[in-house]
Amino acid sequence: MNLILEEGIEPEALHFGGILLRFESLGSTNATAKALARKGLPEGTVVLAKMQRLGRGRGEKSWLSPLGGLWFSVILRPRLPPSSMSLIPIAAGVSAARTIRRLFQLDVVLKWPNDVMADGKKVAGILTESSAAADGYHVIVGFGINANNSCTSMPPQLRDEAISLSDMLSSEINIDRLMQENLKEFAKVYSKILTGDSAEVVTQWKHLTDMLRQPILVYETDVSVEATAVDLDSDGALLIQTQDGTLRRLLSANISIRRLK
Ligand code: BTN
Repeated sequence: MNLILEEGIEPEALHFGGILLRFESLGSTNATAKALARKGLPEGTVVLAKMQRLGRGRGEKSWLSPLGGLWFSVILRPRLPPSSMSLIPIAAGVSAARTIRRLFQLDVVLKWPNDVMADGKKVAGILTESSAAADGYHVIVGFGINANNSCTSMPPQLRDEAISLSDMLSSEINIDRLMQENLKEFAKVYSKILTGDSAEVVTQWKHLTDMLRQPILVYETDVSVEATAVDLDSDGALLIQTQDGTLRRLLSANISIRRLK
């Protein structure tokens, strides 16, 4: 169907969270969202849990999800070519970083692909999982935001790597508002991919990162490589240059990166 819009009239904005399922505790909001997507729940459905018992992170890692954090997943049903699909995790990171910067005036930055960082510590992580099922193709985008859960009481290795918004602000934040604003922002950024304005999403990501032109250590399975982060490609791949001058594209979700400076 072709929509002819009169000048000045905006098409109805995409809305996420129209169906919002709240749980006291879940294994993983991503796992529940995936099961619900298989049952046919529509795009924009949100699954929220006050705590997760088996929270999942990227690269098969677990994700500590105590009370006080913001743990939620969004069901998407994108009809996009593969080169645009890989921008969904990038769009999710952009939305989380922009929301946190705007609501709390914190100078958070993005680490590829979508970790939200403050002073080298992780404030938020995002796990994107796609599957094809009888009901069609769906993508689950799970946001984990360290909000009112203090990271100072986490086990030592995590304490050095994670920080929460309440740790930074020295006060509790309104978790519901943070989720609603993040959902609005995510709907906006995701719409850009749907309407063919992916280049704008790539530009926004580049404005929000501090890792370009910096030395990094790239971990792939058991091997680590020193490189320089060069650019973000139009499909969300990170372009790196290794020490022998070779240019490479990183796109796999199982790669992790550490800043060297
Ligand atoms: C990462 O490793 O950085 C990604 C962490 C993603 C955690 C969130 S919490 C809500 C959703 N449910 C999960 O099990 N994981 C994601």
